[in-house]
Amino acid sequence: MTEPIVARTRDELAEALSRGEQESAVVLTMGALHAGHRALIHAARDLVGTGGAVLVTIFVNPLQFGPGEDFERYPRPFGADLAVCAEEGVDLVFAPATEELYPLGDPQVTVAPGPLGAELEGAVRPGHFAGVLTVVAKLLNLTVPSYAVFGEKDYQQLVLVGRMVADLDLPYEIVGVPTVREADGLALSSRNRYLSADERAAAPVLGRALEAGAAAAAGGPDAVLAAARAELTGVELDYLELRGADLEPAPATGPARLLVAARAGTTRLIDNIAVDLP
Ligand code: PAF
Repeated sequence: MTEPIVARTRDELAEALSRGEQESAVVLTMGALHAGHRALIHAARDLVGTGGAVLVTIFVNPLQFGPGEDFERYPRPFGADLAVCAEEGVDLVFAPATEELYPLGDPQVTVAPGPLGAELEGAVRPGHFAGVLTVVAKLLNLTVPSYAVFGEKDYQQLVLVGRMVADLDLPYEIVGVPTVREADGLALSSRNRYLSADERAAAPVLGRALEAGAAAAAGGPDAVLAAARAELTGVELDYLELRGADLEPAPATGPARLLVAARAGTTRLIDNIAVDLP
């Protein structure tokens, strides 16, 4: 097991990047790494092979948290995160301080996520996707990878990042990786550690609802939504929506995505699943 190089500043990052000419893949994270992140790191390694470089960024981005959200209490177990990166053979970790990434203070110019940025998660978390896309653009431009790997767990984020690189001609290939789940179907998330025992017991209904919805695809969109809704007990639903694969309005047939957000106690959970409408 080799320790990754750790860069805390832009200069340290640039110096580390200048040492290698090889293809690279980056995994952007806010830390608190779990098996879902490990899957992203594996996918990054598969993309570039042993001759390439796998980068992980660790940065809790204040720009994407709204007032009253969990920015301050968001877990920051940096030592444990570095150990995960070492175990997974990561070559380089970029973990800047806020002042390093935003040296001029709050950015005056940000990435506008467009109409989709105000829907689904964006309707509940105004400004969230402008914050996400702004930091993603910065981190990609600083790490200049060939590939950037994102989890399907945050499906709207994945779609919006893909749209950003297409619309702005950013020269990075965006790769989505399927969600990793606990044995009972709960999608892995750094925020799962906030769940009390009762909330943790309630949380798997999201995964069950999505499975039930996907299994009802033969009956069409209404059957998908009805089957999923029937499972959603014991949590407070924010939304349950069936959309197209790029989150456009749901098609009558073909690939679609079923998305859910709900609160188990004070913890907000999101999840989604592919649905093939015959
Ligand atoms: O998915 C996340 O962890 C964050 O939204 C990201 C992409 C690292 C940007 O801060």
